[in-house]
Amino acid sequence: MSKFDSPAGINPLDQEKVLARPHARKEGPLKVTGQATYAYEYSADPDLQGTTYGYLVGAGVARGQVTSVDCSVAEAMPGVLLVLTHENMPAQGASDTPVPQEDDATPQMRSAEVDYYHQAVAFVVAETFEQARAAAGALVIEYDNRTAEGDYVLAEVMEDAEKAGSDEESKDQQVGDFAGAFRRADVQLDVTYTTPYQSHAMLEPHASLAVWDEAGEELTLYTSNQMVHWVHRGISKTLNVPQKNIRIVSRYIGGGFGSKLMFYGDAVLSAVAARTLGRPVKCALTRPQIFNHTSHRPATVQRIRFGADGDGRIHAIGHDSYSGNLPGGSAETASHQTKLLYAGENRLVRQRLSELHLPPGGSMRAPGEAVGMLALECAVDELAEKLEMDPIELRVLNDIGYDPEKGPERPFSSRRLADCLRRGAEEFGWEQRSAQPGERRDGEWLIGLGVASAFRGNLVKPSSATLRLEKGGKITVETQMTDIGTGSYTILGQTAAEMLGLTLDDVEVRLGDSEFPKSSGSGGSWGANSAGTGVYYAAEELRKKIAKAAGYDPKKAVFKDGEVWEDNKCTLLGVVAAKAPEPLEATVNATFGDLNKQYAQASFGAHFCEVGVHRVTGEIRVRRMLSVAAAGRIFNPVTARSQCLGGMTMGVGAALMEELHVDGELGLFINHDMAEYHVPVHADIPDLDVIFLEELDDKSSPLKGKGVGELGICGVGAAVANAIYNASGVRIRDYPLTVDKIL
Ligand code: MOS
Repeated sequence: MSKFDSPAGINPLDQEKVLARPHARKEGPLKVTGQATYAYEYSADPDLQGTTYGYLVGAGVARGQVTSVDCSVAEAMPGVLLVLTHENMPAQGASDTPVPQEDDATPQMRSAEVDYYHQAVAFVVAETFEQARAAAGALVIEYDNRTAEGDYVLAEVMEDAEKAGSDEESKDQQVGDFAGAFRRADVQLDVTYTTPYQSHAMLEPHASLAVWDEAGEELTLYTSNQMVHWVHRGISKTLNVPQKNIRIVSRYIGGGFGSKLMFYGDAVLSAVAARTLGRPVKCALTRPQIFNHTSHRPATVQRIRFGADGDGRIHAIGHDSYSGNLPGGSAETASHQTKLLYAGENRLVRQRLSELHLPPGGSMRAPGEAVGMLALECAVDELAEKLEMDPIELRVLNDIGYDPEKGPERPFSSRRLADCLRRGAEEFGWEQRSAQPGERRDGEWLIGLGVASAFRGNLVKPSSATLRLEKGGKITVETQMTDIGTGSYTILGQTAAEMLGLTLDDVEVRLGDSEFPKSSGSGGSWGANSAGTGVYYAAEELRKKIAKAAGYDPKKAVFKDGEVWEDNKCTLLGVVAAKAPEPLEATVNATFGDLNKQYAQASFGAHFCEVGVHRVTGEIRVRRMLSVAAAGRIFNPVTARSQCLGGMTMGVGAALMEELHVDGELGLFINHDMAEYHVPVHADIPDLDVIFLEELDDKSSPLKGKGVGELGICGVGAAVANAIYNASGVRIRDYPLTVDKIL
């Protein structure tokens, strides 16, 4: 019995009548029939007639100052209602960095200073979108350009990071004597990998619609955002308006991948302009603005060192990661997983941060691991080759059940890495792999197999929910949680249904509204497990209330088939609800789980890939892929599988095509649209397969699950790169692996 089980020693979720069963997304039909209302679309509501259109103007320099803005022509153009610049913006809350921070103030155009290219410098509002855009083009903006040479080049600023005693040093892992052990090792590997800037490139742009009440005191902000409680607090601080006067609505989100963890100019400037004008204002960022005005995944330079004995045991492991960001921004935590993934008694794991004047770097799907594993898992492949060992055997040999720094006192809550590797090898036909690169052919194609471990830290966050028994015996769930396409609506419905002995159809889930109880939100792969736990606790509380209202002993009450039972007596939930003098409702603020202290926590997996490399043209084709994952209880095999397929697809993109190119003169990402920022298309992705290993992790949460949404991408690109090496004998250490680098 775990501490999460109910007093009777039974966790109703373990029945798995509804949870852990495949269910299609509840909101799917609404989305495909255009009935799901996204942030930009609320203006179709008759009450919002008179909505105006805002167009953001981004800075044309990366560093400097706006010296003048001539609005005279623009203001006289048809339909133009307002031009906001730093000169007429109302006072806003301050932030000490241009990089948006969780629930902090994120002011726009607070001064004439420009910190990055496409930082907002003006906001034009007009009766129509076209009028606003045309007027934006008529603004004459002058700058004092203070760009310094090398402001945007990571390699050039890295030396400063070495010197500077930054606070990154406090996160170093130093165990034993790395330098000595590395020097003495029988087999050494010292390699440096680079990963490029990447963009989330989600489909729905950042979009907001701001509506104030007549007094200009109460704001409703419809916005596409992953974290309702962060944007709620952050907007309040930015606008200096009490949180209770602000309502955030974010019901449907067309993808986020971390880009919508924070909020940007569309949200702040729509709100400010709507208040000034006394009319609703909406704004969607244009595609180029998304690439430069919002966040991206920082580029990294990663040096990895392994010292092993002749049998393949790792004794020294070193991982240094360098990345850059604007002042006050954070480092890409690309070396983080190396603290926990493999054994080795001498360890040196560091990350360093340099100042760069590119747009703000932020979290993108599995920040840290997604690019850390691109380097680490290729380095493991290189080590295996030096040792003349099978790369799976090398990984299994250095598998470790506890935190290698803290020792056996801090075991993993659950860890089935070796099982994932072994099962995948069997299913994928790993024995077909030739240890010698370039030996397998299919006509003109060189065929290779690659493998990589998957690792993503398991995060859990406090989350709350309200559950209500409705008169008809159905349940309503309300929480601020969001669904970014991941399946929250469905999974939370399954959780509530299982707890109350109902079917998924008996539960209505309402999300994405700051009027509901505060939730974990969607990020860091913590969403389903954390928000689900909020629902679990509220359901436990509601069960007690229902049992009491039915006249039963809450300790003995059993919920099944829409009824509450005690021994051989039972009552329909609908009857209990009808008879109850007041609504039966429960809200619980749940803090739970070990929060990563006593136990190390992560989700594990293994990725397998077969590629063909054309022996003449160097063209690379992914032919087959398999992911095996052990991520605790899988709440819904359909939505979880879908998360993995998306992660694998994105992993292929990271390996082969995704790359933001920096214009070294202007300091912007120049391929700032979907035509030039390449992501995989259908023709790039073959049949993908996913296997989930059974696992229940009762240290993680009462749901006994772990994160899966980001596990799917971690390590994928390395499996592709390792397959390319196995096919062609060409080892590329600079992502993405494009044809020019193969030849
Ligand atoms: Mo995630 S990158 O925390 O949406």
